[in-house]
Amino acid sequence: MKVLEHPDLAYSQVAQWRQSGQRVGLIPTMGALHAGHLSLVRRSLEECDRTVATIFVNPTQFGPGEDFAKYPRTQQEDLSGLRELGVDLVFAPSQSDLYPEGYSTFVQPPAAAEPLEGIFRPIHFRGVVTVVLKLFHILPATIAYFGQKDYQQLTVIRRMVHDLNVPILVQGCPTVRQADGLAMSSRNRYLTDQQRPNALCLWKALGSAKRMFEQGQREVTVIEAEMQRILKQEGADRIDYARIVDAEYLSDLQRIDRNAVALVAVHVGQTRLIDNCMLEV
Ligand code: PAF
Repeated sequence: MKVLEHPDLAYSQVAQWRQSGQRVGLIPTMGALHAGHLSLVRRSLEECDRTVATIFVNPTQFGPGEDFAKYPRTQQEDLSGLRELGVDLVFAPSQSDLYPEGYSTFVQPPAAAEPLEGIFRPIHFRGVVTVVLKLFHILPATIAYFGQKDYQQLTVIRRMVHDLNVPILVQGCPTVRQADGLAMSSRNRYLTDQQRPNALCLWKALGSAKRMFEQGQREVTVIEAEMQRILKQEGADRIDYARIVDAEYLSDLQRIDRNAVALVAVHVGQTRLIDNCMLEV
């Protein structure tokens, strides 16, 4: 497995694979890899001739007061996991490789970036779409794999790729969960043993939304109120949102009369967690 830091070297390698007709799968990550990331890697290994992962904790997607400084950095462990799985190339640039002195260009994210996370993390998606577009240029892959756990991120990236005619297929992959339902996340490692049971409030609230929907409830405010109640009761210290929106545009809904998605974001102690589930008509 090659590990490259320099964008030009990484570009040459991926371009050479593409020119020789090989399908290249790309898994952009911020490291601190868990079973969710590894499932994306496995999917790429199954579907593509070459698999490339990136490890870069992107400073531009963290707002002031967020966890950029303390975000877990576990590069040696990450590299050995990726090597074991059979990844061909890891692109692990330094901050100055991607944002050299004088860097000042940013991508304006699409409208789907405005609600939900956009309200609580106003500069987040500007940083995400900027770095993802840079990675798509540096590593001109055939397919890019992203987890559905970050549902809004996936929606925003799909839209950006469509709007800006980026020649890459964006593949969303199912959320991987621990046995009790907690969605895998690099931020789970911030949770203390005492907080860990409370982190299940997201799964329980989404489970109840799904049950109400399956039993015929279609009124968005009724299901949202129940998600709020369960989040509070089951251990959320602060709720950023518990919403049901249109699955494609993330726009508001009053009744679930087309495919929708329930999304929650809460704080358990100092840890901010997000999760979602589809409500398909
Ligand atoms: O989902 C993530 O880990 C990040 O937002 C991404 C897509 C790697 C961009 O930094």
